[in-house]
Amino acid sequence: VLRKPLLIAIDGPAAAGKGTLAQSLANRLNLPYLDTGLLYRAIGKLMQIAGLDLDDPQAATVVAEKLTPDDLRRGDLRGREAGELASRVAVHSGVRAALVAFQRDFAHGPRGAVLDGRDIGTVICPDADVKLYVTASAEVRARRRTDELLAKGRMVDYEAILSEVKARDERDSGRAEAPLRPADDAIVIDTSALGPAEVLATALAVIENRPAGA
Ligand code: DC
Repeated sequence: VLRKPLLIAIDGPAAAGKGTLAQSLANRLNLPYLDTGLLYRAIGKLMQIAGLDLDDPQAATVVAEKLTPDDLRRGDLRGREAGELASRVAVHSGVRAALVAFQRDFAHGPRGAVLDGRDIGTVICPDADVKLYVTASAEVRARRRTDELLAKGRMVDYEAILSEVKARDERDSGRAEAPLRPADDAIVIDTSALGPAEVLATALAVIENRPAGA
């Protein structure tokens, strides 16, 4: 039986558990996974290393247009600093435009895909079979981030993380180009009171129960 490849779009604010969910869904459903935040993180990092001004749209666009999949394998992209740089370069429309084709090609591969980010359901894959918007209160997200860092033996201050989380929300939601928001047909999953296994179970139920033809 030929089954249509399944395309799953996951959006939401920083530290809501999108990445964990996307990774688990991809494993469970045997789908390729693209963490689109890495694209913006790599651009931010490359600009920083080159001493370029992150707020310069032209410079950022040139870097985005030259980005290669190898740039996503850098070891220094997952941290807080790269996230901050990413959020700054992500406001430029030229940067976003340069990344559309790569993301859509990935999404429309023969096996289907899971993509996570901020604008997957709204801009990159409005045609996704399933759109999930994964969120949690800023306080819960900051608490999780703080605990993760403490577990790694890092010195961190909850209040500082909370203001970072809020600042990032504001930049990602307030920008003119592809602002963070749930697509009209997204299913919202609030993870504030859920663990990773419960979030996965909720998402799998949404996927299984999606309307026929969707
Ligand atoms: O998901 P993340 O924390 O790795 O994303 C880092 C930043 O990149 C995020 O704050 C905004 C930007 N981003 C975006 O604008 N669009 C995406 N699809 C993914 C990330």
